[in-house]
Amino acid sequence: MALVPYEEGRALQGLRRPTATYRFAGRTVRIRQDWERRGVAAVVWDAAVVLSAYLEMGGIDLRDRSVIELGAGTGLLGIVATLLGARVTITDREPALEFLESNVWANLPSELHARAVVKELTWGKDLGSFPPGAFDFILGADIIYLEETFAELLRTLEHLCSEQTVILLSCRIRYERDNNFLKMLKGRFSVSEVHYDYSKDVHIYKAQRHSHNDDF
Ligand SMILES: C[S@@+](CC[C@H](N)C(=O)[O-])C[C@H]1O[C@@H](n2cnc3c(N)ncnc32)[C@H](O)[C@@H]1O
Repeated sequence: MALVPYEEGRALQGLRRPTATYRFAGRTVRIRQDWERRGVAAVVWDAAVVLSAYLEMGGIDLRDRSVIELGAGTGLLGIVATLLGARVTITDREPALEFLESNVWANLPSELHARAVVKELTWGKDLGSFPPGAFDFILGADIIYLEETFAELLRTLEHLCSEQTVILLSCRIRYERDNNFLKMLKGRFSVSEVHYDYSKDVHIYKAQRHSHNDDF
């Protein structure tokens, strides 16, 4: 059983504030955190902050695009994508949903509520309730860390992805097994690194089906 990023979470335990505050899309986003009681899905990981900033600054026009976020945790990334104009399905495992929903609805102005949906998605399970290939973007922040989920995560990406879909995954490479997932990903998709944040040691990878148009 992989421990990371649990070890990293414990190391940062004393530093986690009950509320983390960010400024994205001209708005203040306040995310409640609860590492002690709820664990890994209830804190904001650097990968989510870096990918949120990339979406805001990187020249990707999310207006009216359909987006799904996998392993959303506290929901920061999905919230930012919604604030940037996308229609976003924000997903995680069932135990994470209540806390995730509370952060999402506390941060989206009421006029944007209809543009976001919070839904259970455990990788590889009940994929039939998600239309195949229906999303323009698939986002994931710090979701490459549990080796036993790699095959199911890949299956989920393949199910959700059309020829046009752009997958953006942000992660810290902690162990060789994380590179193994990237090798698995490269076996099924065209993968390129589009950004590296030195200060936070977070990579962003873009993946698309092998025969794709290379534009965002
Ligand atoms: C390290 S946290 C990252 C959370 C958030 N994306 C962030 O960066 O702040 C990993 C997330 O993946 C989710 N996760 C782990 N295994 C999963 C699975 N099999 N299916 C769906 N989500 C899963 C966890 O619940 C957690 O929210």
